[in-house]
This record gives sequence, C-alpha cells and structure tokens, in this order.
Amino acid sequence: MARRRYAVVGTGSRAERHVRAIAVEHAETCELVAFADVNRTRMDVHNERLAGLGVEPVPAYDAAGFRRMLDEQRVDVVVVTTVDRFHDTYIVGALDAGRDVVTEKPMTTDVPSAVKILDAVQRNDGNVTVTFNYRYNPIHEKVRALLADGAVGEIGSVHFEWLLDTRHGADYFRRWHRDKANSGGLMVHKATHHFDLLNWWVGSVPETVYAHGRLFFYGEENGKRHGYSHDERFTIDLERDAWLKKLYLDARHEDGYRRDQNPFAPGVSIEDDMSVLVRYASGANLTYHLTAYSPWEGYRLMVNGSRGRLELEVVENSWVSGQHPAVHGVSANPEQGWATLSVQRLFERREEIPLEHGGDGHGGADQRMVDALYGPAGQQDPLGRRATHRDGVLSLLTGFAANRSFETGGPVRVADLIDLR
Ligand SMILES: NC(=O)c1ccc[n+]([C@@H]2O[C@H](COP(=O)([O-])OP(=O)(O)OC[C@H]3O[C@@H](n4cnc5c(N)ncnc54)[C@H](O)[C@@H]3O)[C@@H](O)[C@H]2O)c1
Repeated sequence: MARRRYAVVGTGSRAERHVRAIAVEHAETCELVAFADVNRTRMDVHNERLAGLGVEPVPAYDAAGFRRMLDEQRVDVVVVTTVDRFHDTYIVGALDAGRDVVTEKPMTTDVPSAVKILDAVQRNDGNVTVTFNYRYNPIHEKVRALLADGAVGEIGSVHFEWLLDTRHGADYFRRWHRDKANSGGLMVHKATHHFDLLNWWVGSVPETVYAHGRLFFYGEENGKRHGYSHDERFTIDLERDAWLKKLYLDARHEDGYRRDQNPFAPGVSIEDDMSVLVRYASGANLTYHLTAYSPWEGYRLMVNGSRGRLELEVVENSWVSGQHPAVHGVSANPEQGWATLSVQRLFERREEIPLEHGGDGHGGADQRMVDALYGPAGQQDPLGRRATHRDGVLSLLTGFAANRSFETGGPVRVADLIDLR
C-alpha cells in the first residue's frame, strides 16, 4: 500500500514527537514530505535532527507558501502543531484543499474559529483527528473501561481537580500561552484535555457551565504582593539544554519570540486559578478546579455513581525542588510520583485497581497515540480513543463557556455558543 504523505506545520517543540513517529517509527506507512513555519531556523533544527536520525531533510516552506506546499509536495495529511491561535487557518486551508488533518489540541481557541472549522469539515466532508494523547494513558483507559462497564452504576456526579506545579504551571506564563489571544487561556489550552477526558469518561456532553477564574499568583501585581520574583525558582535557562537553545534562543533573531519570559512581568491575560461547575446532558454534575501554582503536580478524580464510587489520585511530581526548572514533557524531573485507583461499591469494601506503569511521555500516552495514529490502518480501538473534530469542539465548549462565564459572572448555556445538534 502507498505510504501517506505528511507535512508538519508549526515546527516547535511538540512537532518533534509527530516528526519522529512519521519519519522514523512508522516509515512503513508514512512519509514525511515537508515542513511549514514562520520561523526558518526552527525548521532547520528539525531537519538537522532528522539527519541525525538518518532521514533525508524535507523541504521547508514559509507559512505563506502553505497552499503551494500542499500541491508541490502532494501532501495527503497536514499535521498542525503551531501556536494554538493559528490552528484554524491551517485546518481550514488543508480541508478546503481536500487534505486530511491531524491537529494538536486545543483544536482552536474561540467560538468563531471553531465554527469555521465545523463549516469546513461539513462543506468538504473533511477528516480531522485531534491528538488527545491523554486518552491513551493506560490509567485513563482503565477509568474509561471501568465506567463504561458500569463499575459505579449510573454516574451522578464527578469531582475533578488538576494541579500544575510551580515548574510546569509557570511555563504557561513564560511562553506565548500567557496571552489569551494565543491560547484561549488555560480553560482552553490546558483544560481541553481534561474536559475531553470528562466527556469521554462520563459518556455525555456539557450543557450548562458556570465558572469563576482569576489571576492570583503570576503576573506583575501578584508577584509583588506575594513576594515572588524572577529568581532561580522561576527562571528557565535555555543555554542549559541544547535542544531548547537551538529551537528558541538561536531562532529568536527571526521573530523576537522569547520562550523564557518572566512569569511576573506585565502582559499576562490568562488565569491561574479556575473553578467550574458543569451540568452534562446525562444529568451528571461536575465540579472542576485547575490551579497553576501548586507545590506538587497531579490530579484527583472522584466519580459518584448509583452503585458506588471511583477514586483516582495521580501524583506526577510530589514536589518542586528550588533548582532551575526542567521542562515538563521535555526533560525528566528529579522528583517521583505515584498513582492509585480504587472502586468502592455500595455496602462493600474499597477495591484497589492494579495499574500498568505507562512509561515516559505523558504516562506512555504519546507513544501509544502515535502508534495508533501513524501505524497500520485498521487497528482496533474498542475504547473509542481516536478523537474527531466533534470531540475537539465538545472538549472546547466547556472552556469557551467558562471563559464567557468569567466575563459575565453568570451561567452559560453551551448551545448558545455553538449548537451541535
Ligand atoms: N498534546 C500535548 O501533550 C501537547 C504538548 C505540548 C504542546 N502541544 C500543542 O502543540 C502545539 C505547539 O506547541 P509547542 O509547545 O510546540 O509550541 P512552540 O512554541 O514550541 O512551537 C510553535 C511553533 O508554531 C510556529 N508558528 C507560530 N505562528 C505560526 C504561523 N502563523 N504559521 C505557522 N507556524 C507558526 C512557531 O514558529 C513555532 O515553531 C500547541 O497547539 C500545543 O497546544 C500539545
């Protein structure tokens, strides 16, 4: 069978995982044929890395040459790994040219661009896959399987708390994400993962959302108020990591982008502390909280059902040492974590569920996802992990509605934003 021809647009840090999967790990089914980005240095870095892996460099196109690239390189599939706010441009452009799309989360950042994508899918009968790697974490698969099998009966309510520590959390305030126009804020950029997991676990869709959010810890005023500054606990030294240096420091002369901004400097327009109440179409209620300045990183999930309760605790990092921060998902952190999952049926003792250790890269999820995505066609997917544009939008609607609720102070009906019926 002919190999599918892939182009990657947005050749930053995350692109590396897709590039390696396409060009090296799944070269029997995939062929990498081009890069596109606004920054030529970063494309060169990826080509240099390919050479190190024994793969021929691929043509590098300026963003303006995207449409031309599709034809010249006979691209079948566009992989979108740009800054979030530009996803919609490339998704719609690829669909209108009759190509398939694999896009990183969040599929997009606001309601108008989500509508544009939905329209493009419809007029082209297009094919979009959203790379929700969190679905491929073996722990999350286990939760999905247990809930779908009725381990707690009908789901009455869910409590979900997600903590980003002062290393990973601060990183959103050092990078382009700090501007809400780029990322949609953490309700969109980060919580799209969490709201997608919730939709998938609960087996329903959000109907009503009420939320409060604020910038409490990062930003200029808060830094002063709480006594934090851009000292070694909050500084990232790009010189210390050859990959980060090449990708950002050595590429800065082209676009002026700084990956190592001061999280306590002016210009932050996203929140770092967010509380959300959601009512699902199934009737289930959710209380959700996201914090970006925690001493440890991980999450707690509690699901109350008609037959019992499921509890999950995942500690990804138990503390943050005061040294220069490693970069989450790029280099290993020195502190250990653990995970526990239990189900307690009504009138029974609590049962601990044994967990498979997933490995590196978001708990082993990244490898499992790229194998499913770029490996041979026709692989089984009994848990329904592969996510479409519809899942992409559904995961975003909770965050869009929460952002609206932050502004209005009132509850938001999701159907008033986008009516998917
Ligand atoms: N699923 C995950 O776990 C995960 C992890 C990290 C990042 N991501 C996603 O991957 C995407 C990229 O994130 P990143 O961390 O690699 O960011 P990054 O800053 O390292 O890379 C972004 C790239 O986009 C390029 N770019 C900016 N504007 C562009 C435009 N108009 N046209 C083309 N290219 C443009 C930049 O030059 C840069 O090379 C984001 O959408 C992010 O949400 C997902």
